[in-house]
Amino acid sequence: MRVPTASTAESAASRALSVAFATRPVRATDLQQIVALDAQITGLGKADYWKQLIDNAGTLRQSAQFFLVAERTHDPSALLLGFIQGEIRAWEFGSAPCGWVYSLSVRPDARLGGLGQALLEALAAEFKRAGVTKMRTMVLRGNRLVMLFFRAAGMMAGPYIELEKELD
Ligand SMILES: CC(C)(COP(=O)(O)OP(=O)(O)OC[C@H]1O[C@@H](n2cnc3c(N)ncnc32)[C@H](O)[C@@H]1OP(=O)(O)O)[C@@H](O)C(=O)NCCC(=O)NCCS
Repeated sequence: MRVPTASTAESAASRALSVAFATRPVRATDLQQIVALDAQITGLGKADYWKQLIDNAGTLRQSAQFFLVAERTHDPSALLLGFIQGEIRAWEFGSAPCGWVYSLSVRPDARLGGLGQALLEALAAEFKRAGVTKMRTMVLRGNRLVMLFFRAAGMMAGPYIELEKELD
């Protein structure tokens, strides 16, 4: 994994949260909070899945995986406000290298304060630093909130269509 830089985003945070926050690379000690936040939002606990991603983030320093978290600055409780995880992939489906946003979650009580936007911008900056000029994600049809968020960030329908079927 490349080593992202930490950055503060005080102006966005102050809009609604009235606190300053910072983004930084994930640490092994974040696991419990990430599992809990994801389980709260998706209804599924996936401790092994997140542990693997965090372990990769700590060991695959040269790969193209990125995992960033947001937390209040100067907060001794080290409460995580949100996280984003993504990866640069190349040539699957004939696609030139691009940065994929795989997961993004902000604590329900910390939303609408610019945190999601700050996390997305921090990940986009890492993609750009790595030389990639396009970012992609997938949104569950009907997930209006996430669709609104990504549309507000300037993301639009791309040239691919996902196809699938049940295997019986
Ligand atoms: C989507 C999500 C990341 C947004 O985080 P956030 O910190 O609240 O977003 P921001 O405050 O940065 O909002 C940025 C823009 O997105 C749009 N937006 C965000 N929440 C919105 C809402 N509830 N309604 C309408 N638009 C919204 C707005 O345009 C907003 O800009 P504005 O405040 O200037 O109008 C957050 O709601 C979340 O974690 N939702 C659950 C995500 C999820 O399902 N994750 C699991 C699968 S990966």
